[in-house]
Amino acid sequence: MNQPSTDHTRAERHADWVERDRTRIWHGFTQMSTFAENAPIIVERAEGRELIDVDGWRYLDAISSLWVTTLGHNLPELNEAIVDQLGRVSHTIMLGHGNKATIELAEALTPRVPVADPRFLFASDGAAAVEQALKIAFQYWVNQGVEGRDTYLSFGGAYHGDTIGSVSVGADGFGTDIFNPLRFDVVRAPGFDDPACMTEAVRMIAEHRDSLAAVVVEPLVQGAAGIQVLGAEHFLPLAAACREHDVLLLVDEVATGFGRTGTLFASDQIRSLGEFAPDLMAIGKGLTGGYLPMSATVAAGHVANAFLGPDLGPNTLYHGHSFSGNAASAAAALAHLRLFDEWDVLSQVQSAAAHMADALAAQVAALPQVRQVRQCGLMVGIELAPPADGLLWGRKTAKSCVQQGVLVRPLGDVIVLMPILTSTSDEIERMVAATSAAIAQLG
Ligand SMILES: Cc1ncc(COP(=O)(O)O)c(C=O)c1O
Repeated sequence: MNQPSTDHTRAERHADWVERDRTRIWHGFTQMSTFAENAPIIVERAEGRELIDVDGWRYLDAISSLWVTTLGHNLPELNEAIVDQLGRVSHTIMLGHGNKATIELAEALTPRVPVADPRFLFASDGAAAVEQALKIAFQYWVNQGVEGRDTYLSFGGAYHGDTIGSVSVGADGFGTDIFNPLRFDVVRAPGFDDPACMTEAVRMIAEHRDSLAAVVVEPLVQGAAGIQVLGAEHFLPLAAACREHDVLLLVDEVATGFGRTGTLFASDQIRSLGEFAPDLMAIGKGLTGGYLPMSATVAAGHVANAFLGPDLGPNTLYHGHSFSGNAASAAAALAHLRLFDEWDVLSQVQSAAAHMADALAAQVAALPQVRQVRQCGLMVGIELAPPADGLLWGRKTAKSCVQQGVLVRPLGDVIVLMPILTSTSDEIERMVAATSAAIAQLG
C-alpha cells in the first residue's frame, strides 16, 4: 500500500467504513456485490491534489474526482467564497425570481462562453444540462410553427449523461442498453474513432435536415468513449452543415469545459480556426471548480428569443429544477472563474499536458500491454491490449494504482488519467510512474 503500516487498527477502521458503506450506500456505475474487492477508498478530507482517507492515507487524485476538480481540493479561496455566501443565503427559488450570486455568475460567464448573446438555464448535473438543451432544441422549432423537427443527430461513442434523453442521444455500450425500450431513436453518425465520422455526419445532416432539431456533439474529445480525440478542424464542416441546413448545434462541454483541453472551452480551439457558433451548450463538472453541484444549459439569444410570448402562454419553457441557480454554487463558480484568471491556469494546463505527453511516451506507450495512448490537454486515455476478453486489465491496473497511492478509475480497458489542472511536474511523474508499474505487471 502507499503508506506501509503495521498499525492493524487502521486496517480494521478502513474495513469497518467499507462495510458500513456497502451496507447503506448504492454507488453509481458500481456492482455492489464486488464493491469491497476493488480497493475502494473512503475519503475523510483532502488537501490540494491529495485525498486523505479514514486512516489518514493519502492518494493523489489522478481522476479529478470524476473529472470535476480543477484547481485542487479544500482551497481556502473557494471555501471562503462559499462560506461567505452561506452567511447571506444558500438557496432561493429561481422559478420567476432570482438571486444576486447567480446573476453575477451569468454576467461573468457571458464574455467567456462561445455562445452569442447567451442565456443561462442552471441545473445541478451535466445530464440535466443536456436534457434541458434537448427539450429547448425541440421546442424552439415548435414555437416557430416548424413541424417535424423531432429528432437529433449524435455520434457513436457519445456520452451525454444518464437521464432518458441524454442516454438516448448517448451511444450504446455504457451498460445502458437495458434501457433501449425507453430510449428514443436518433440519427447516429460514427464515433470519433472512425476517421470518416464527420464526413458521414455532414451527409446525414443534409439527408435528415427536415427532421433534425439539433446536432449534439462533444467538441474535440469523446470522454467516456475512452478519450477519443478528433482534431479541431474536423468540427468546422459540421458547424457549416448545421448552418446550411438550419439545424441547431448543441455542444456538450460538460467534460471538456473549464480548461481540460488547454483552452477554457474546447470550442475555443475550433473557433480559432473558423466559424463555429453553437446555438446551445451544456456545461457542468468544472463550473464550480468541482466544489458544489452546478450545471447550465447556455442558449444563444436567438434561441431564447423564440420562447418569448404572453404570460403563461405555450411559448414558455415549462422546465426547471428545485436547485436551479443555487446561490452557494454560483458563489463558488464565480470565485473559481476569478482564480482561473489570477492563477493563469491555462498556462499551467499547457505545461502539465506537455510534461504528461513526454512521461507517457517514455514510460507507457511502448509497453507491450498498451494498444494506444490518446491525449488532449489534461485528458488521457491509455488503451490496454488484453490478449483475451474478461481479464479485467483496466480494473487490475486501477487497483494497483490505488495501492500505490494514486486514484484512477478505468473505463473498461482504458485507463483514464484526468489530473487536477494545477498538478505539478512531480505529481504528473507520480501518476505516470504508478500507472506504468501497474500496467507492466499485467500478463
Ligand atoms: C460529455 C459529458 N456530458 C454529460 C455528462 C454527464 O454529467 P453528469 O455526470 O454531471 O450528469 C458527462 C459525464 O461524464 C460527460 O462526460
